Amino acid sequence: MYDIAKIRADFPILSRSVNGKPLTYLDNGASAQKPQAVIDAISQAYSHEYSNVHRGLHYLSNLMTEQYEGVRGTIARFLGAGSENEIVLNSGTTEGINMVAYGWAMPRLQPGDEIVLSVMEHHANIVPWHFLRERQGVILKWVDVDASGALDPQAVIDAIGPRTRLVAVTHCSNVLGTVVDVKAITKGAHAKGVPVLVDGSQAAVHMPVNVVDIGCDFYAITGHKLYGPSGSGAIYIKSDRMAEMRPFLGGGDMIREVSKDTVTYNDPPMKFEAGTPGIVQTIGLGVALDYMTDIGMENIAAHEASVRDYANARLSGLNWLKVQGSTADKAAIFSFTLNGAAHAHDISTILDKKGVAVRAGHHCAGPLMDFLGVTATCRASFGMYNTKDEVDVLIDALELAHDLFA
Ligand code: ALA
Repeated sequence: MYDIAKIRADFPILSRSVNGKPLTYLDNGASAQKPQAVIDAISQAYSHEYSNVHRGLHYLSNLMTEQYEGVRGTIARFLGAGSENEIVLNSGTTEGINMVAYGWAMPRLQPGDEIVLSVMEHHANIVPWHFLRERQGVILKWVDVDASGALDPQAVIDAIGPRTRLVAVTHCSNVLGTVVDVKAITKGAHAKGVPVLVDGSQAAVHMPVNVVDIGCDFYAITGHKLYGPSGSGAIYIKSDRMAEMRPFLGGGDMIREVSKDTVTYNDPPMKFEAGTPGIVQTIGLGVALDYMTDIGMENIAAHEASVRDYANARLSGLNWLKVQGSTADKAAIFSFTLNGAAHAHDISTILDKKGVAVRAGHHCAGPLMDFLGVTATCRASFGMYNTKDEVDVLIDALELAHDLFA
């Protein structure tokens, strides 16, 4: 049984009030709340166990190193990777994708080479590729979604030409919630000899992920959306691709020996982890992933699907509200605008007065906003602890906003 009361009780912030109302936290797409187990792990580490990792021969350094390195295996299991050596620890998806852009793509791509992207990518999976466009003449090829917000895998595969060197797509849109068939895209891209990078920031939160089953070459995740600390994350890099990469950041930890004239590097994946890492953040992420795994990703997905369906039914009953995207295969993420002049920021301010936290704006998805013909939307994004009752609170608050702006 999915014990929603217990899960909610595990997240202390959920029992607070905002503006005199119980908090209804529907901004999980931006960042998720943290269970007590994660908060306790952070406190325990800093109170009793903290030291730097990989460097010391003393007790605390060994203790931290063991805990920190243990998370590599936790992440590998969470993502279904074949080996923990295919996991590079980092600060989140933005760092992971930049690492691929600088370390894998930049040395390989020539002017006129192409990267295929979907129009619903987050800026983290756009701007690093713009760097290659600006700096070395790489061409970005964009694939639109259809009217329902779905991305046809075949359209992505058809966009791959003889000069395409990489496909970079999201597994789940942070704006529309659309789930993308990244397995079909990878199969088609590989048949044409093209590697695939998947932005898993949103998807890994909502559904079981298996990178071996997907077959992709790169899969980036971010800890703060996975109920873990901000500043934690990882990227899965298939060992063949990792062997092709050059280090992006230079510094301590990623080297074997340094002299005035030469440098040799640590073995992968540490070759790609320079400097003192987010030690405690990463340990917190490990605890968050254990927490999710104990509940079960299938169970989380099933719970969120029932909340999604309820939210979908209730939101579609409001004829003065437009939900962007109507695809059935989606996470519980809804972007909407109110018909008429009310701006998304004004709507979110009204919702906030009712204790309802949503995000308003462009959601770091400029090309998708252009495609949809809007400058901003409100977005309600649900997580493992949200309930149908909270959908009702959202709807009541939206009705109030509508009354005020009608
Ligand atoms: N990527 C985060 C969002 O979608 C910040 O809100």
